[in-house]
Amino acid sequence: TLTPRPSTLDRADFVGRFGDIYEHSPWVAEETWDNGLTHDQDTPSGLASAMGAVLAAASAERQLEVIRAHPDLAGKAALAGDLTDDSTREQAGAGLDQCTPEELARFERLNDAYKARFGFPFVMAVRGNDRHAILAAFETRLHNSPDEERRTAIEQINRIARLRLEDRVA
Ligand code: GUN
Repeated sequence: TLTPRPSTLDRADFVGRFGDIYEHSPWVAEETWDNGLTHDQDTPSGLASAMGAVLAAASAERQLEVIRAHPDLAGKAALAGDLTDDSTREQAGAGLDQCTPEELARFERLNDAYKARFGFPFVMAVRGNDRHAILAAFETRLHNSPDEERRTAIEQINRIARLRLEDRVA
């Protein structure tokens, strides 16, 4: 169970605690609270489902804004130390902070090719994956259609949010 229990929080406290679960997109937490919280949302899994449903029900335009709020994997912001704490941990957890110059160059080429094709960055819940698996997923997903990739990115973002919520259990 999350403490304090999310269903006991007023709107400001809830958004203060969970506004950063979705990268630079506190409106997901705001709408989740506005939908009404019950005891079902006091567990990481229950809250993840409620927040994920808000994002899944949002317009394609709003979904694209959330996708675009994500930094590149092993990109310039990561190298500059310019990520949110969660993103820094996630990228380091997948060893992306240990890339060789050749791997960094490969990520840069793939990040640029992906953004040129889809108009948004490649987002993947990287925890539990190593660089090899991430690069393989990158190559595969580059062949998807734009609609497929928007849906896949939203699924991955909801998975990232679930993992972030599970980390908040003391
Ligand atoms: N997967 C987990 N965190 C992140 C992130 O910050 N950016 C991208 N692109 N993917 C992620």
